[in-house]
Amino acid sequence: MGARAGSAVAPAGPCALVIFGAGGDLTHRLLVPALYNLHRSGLLPEHFAIVGIDHHTRSDAAWRASLRRALRKASRTRDAEGQPGRFDEKLWHWLAQRMHRIRGDFDDDGLYARLRVRLQHTEQVHKSAGNVLFYLATAPAFFGMVAEKLGTAGLLHAPAAGRSGRRPWRRVCIEKPFGHDLESARALNARLRQVMGEDQIYRIDHFLGKETVQNILAFRFANGLIEPVWNRDRIDHVQITVAETVGVEQRGAFYDRTGCLRDMVPNHLFQLVAMIAMEPPSSFDAEAIRAKKAEALAAVRPARPGQAVRAQYGSGRVLGERVHSYRREPQVARRSSTETYTALRLDIDSWRWAGVPFYLRTGKHLCRRGSEIAIRFKPAPLAPFRSTAVAGFGPDWLVFSIQPGESISLQFDVKRPGPRMELAPVHMEFQYKDWFPVLPNVGYETLIYDCMIGDATLFQRADMIEEGWRIVQPLLDAWARAGARGLASYASGSAGPAQAEALLAAERHQWRPLVPYKPTIARRG
Ligand code: BG6
Repeated sequence: MGARAGSAVAPAGPCALVIFGAGGDLTHRLLVPALYNLHRSGLLPEHFAIVGIDHHTRSDAAWRASLRRALRKASRTRDAEGQPGRFDEKLWHWLAQRMHRIRGDFDDDGLYARLRVRLQHTEQVHKSAGNVLFYLATAPAFFGMVAEKLGTAGLLHAPAAGRSGRRPWRRVCIEKPFGHDLESARALNARLRQVMGEDQIYRIDHFLGKETVQNILAFRFANGLIEPVWNRDRIDHVQITVAETVGVEQRGAFYDRTGCLRDMVPNHLFQLVAMIAMEPPSSFDAEAIRAKKAEALAAVRPARPGQAVRAQYGSGRVLGERVHSYRREPQVARRSSTETYTALRLDIDSWRWAGVPFYLRTGKHLCRRGSEIAIRFKPAPLAPFRSTAVAGFGPDWLVFSIQPGESISLQFDVKRPGPRMELAPVHMEFQYKDWFPVLPNVGYETLIYDCMIGDATLFQRADMIEEGWRIVQPLLDAWARAGARGLASYASGSAGPAQAEALLAAERHQWRPLVPYKPTIARRG
């Protein structure tokens, strides 16, 4: 955002993209489709090359063919308006011509020697100018090792280029999960810092690639009417929901070790918390924004086990399909105590937010897919309706719907037409698709482009990652000690466990219903 703020969007400068894990699911499902979309939008550099690294024994041709198949599938996906996408053979051909592959094991020093030679080759053939983005799309266990080996092989610092004297850039993009607790995240940060500077590290949180998440900043800081009400005086509480209908699918082995809290909360959900809670930055420069986000997270108190719920899905029906329980998923332990749902309350120790609860919930196999941030405003201080039929006020909500159906809506009370003074809640809604053309997007386009242009605004800094783990560490500790004790359950296809309702009821609050939003709901009055 920083580097491109205010300027027309231009293609990134020359570079090579090295993907570790080029045979994996992420590369097929998201990275290559994102590159294809970037190329379609004219944002990839003209002088560009991809070097894919994996350990599969299949041929290079088979690797390309499997990427092409995945791309065809991704480009058929319907856009937000329900229009099926179209696969453009010419765009693919352009990419395929720039794709190279190296087969090897990440722990083999010889691989890095071969990579060096390959990069020299891409510089000559594709004129990538010595700039390299290393993308670690690998299992997390490899992050530290690959970075160290790149460092030892001298690949993280390019020599200054010829007459210009300008040093080509080297950057490393790292997927989540970054560590599995506070200690391991600190250790990984320390390992990375041994071989590169913080300004070379791009820690991805793909939620930040979502337009509606980025729009929170625009909404808050480009509209003067928001700031005066954005505080403990006017806001009663905040609810953040990331509900999924999918289960763990083919990721049982990873998920059973990870669980819902680690998978979603210190990263995706805390990024949303930071966007809502941060103070206004002095500019849209990456460091100005990241400093304010880090400050907001640093003010969050450690989560308390007594104010958190963890639960696991049982069998049930999701979107009309019968599904079995989590413990019967492939590669999941039959007596697993891993949670697939988490709800918690957070407190932020700042002048702006003291006493305003932030309630977070996320889970799999729920009744609907939907991510939203809902801000509940305090009621009017006085009810001058004593002599009328008005029994009470409905709540005022400001809701950012992140997906699906990207929108911002405001719910408030109006007078119902007729001779009597009666109130009815209504919605005022802005829907992205009504105002802007919706571009094909898998969510990684902005992030990859930003790595290429050196804009770190949407990436996690070391301190933000560590703050995230610090906040959830008491839950990780308590839940590891308790095992299955205290683990609640919920039927697949439900709105989650009753214990999550109780968490809010204890504070006279209620979760917003987890049903698809329909404007008609408001008209029931
Ligand atoms: C990933 C998690 O980071 O985010 C998944 O590992 C989760 O478990 C996914 O399903 C949700 O992302 P999105 O973009 O599909 O909402």
